[in-house]
Amino acid sequence: MSVLDFGAGFVLRQATAEDDAAICRVCLLTGDAGQDASSREDDPDLLGLIYCLPYRVLQPDHAFVVDGPDGVCGYLFGAPDTVEFNRRLGSEWYPRLRERVADPGPDASTWGGSDWARRMIHHPEPIAAEIVARYPSHGHIDLLRDARGRGIGRKAMIFLMQRLAATGSRGMFLDVDPRNLGAREFYRKLGFAPSPPTGPSGQGRYMARALSPADKVTF
Ligand SMILES: CC(C)(COP(=O)(O)OP(=O)(O)OC[C@H]1O[C@@H](n2cnc3c(N)ncnc32)[C@H](O)[C@@H]1OP(=O)(O)O)[C@@H](O)C(=O)NCCC(=O)NCCS
Repeated sequence: MSVLDFGAGFVLRQATAEDDAAICRVCLLTGDAGQDASSREDDPDLLGLIYCLPYRVLQPDHAFVVDGPDGVCGYLFGAPDTVEFNRRLGSEWYPRLRERVADPGPDASTWGGSDWARRMIHHPEPIAAEIVARYPSHGHIDLLRDARGRGIGRKAMIFLMQRLAATGSRGMFLDVDPRNLGAREFYRKLGFAPSPPTGPSGQGRYMARALSPADKVTF
């Protein structure tokens, strides 16, 4: 059942386990700063297993897919409490994934294919404390090409912001690759601003904005 109708045969609905393969595919096709990551990865599912499926399993109230005329063409995920979500990733999600993939070791010069993802599964990067202190929630959105430029991203993000604000969250952030200038402009138009600081690996990645249940965010 859809929770939002975008028109022209595109709807937002709750994600289910049957969507997992399609979700991983969307993640792969948008996984290189918004572009297709297929040629870079040697395990096509790892991106989705890190960045998507934990939301469908651990945060089902904030896990949605965009259905289009040709099936699943996007997703929208959120976590109201990033610290708690990451704690559960550490205790409930990554231990099982680690049984599937070996740690390639710390020397990045020896990594190829999806080794960077294997390394991350064994050594997840902590999120900067100063970000989550001000902006406790976070989200992810990716759409395949046919779904872009129709206003779906804007409506879906507003929907997510409203849901996160309804939990009492006072702010949300997104981890946006600095190379993904189009997505950064998209978020800027939705009121997000680059949020410093965050240390070497997080430098310049985060975009954040305040949320308030009283906000009248309208379509
Ligand atoms: C980024 C993305 C979610 C935007 O969704 P969308 O449905 O295409 O965006 P919308 O049509 O709702 O556009 C909303 C506004 O953002 C702007 N915008 C969207 N994509 C843009 C881009 N690539 N460059 C510049 N502006 C962009 C639109 O022009 C529009 O501006 P307006 O309000 O002045 O009309 C979608 O294009 C996408 O998934 N891209 C590939 C994956 C990706 O980069 N995901 C983000 C990872 S952090």
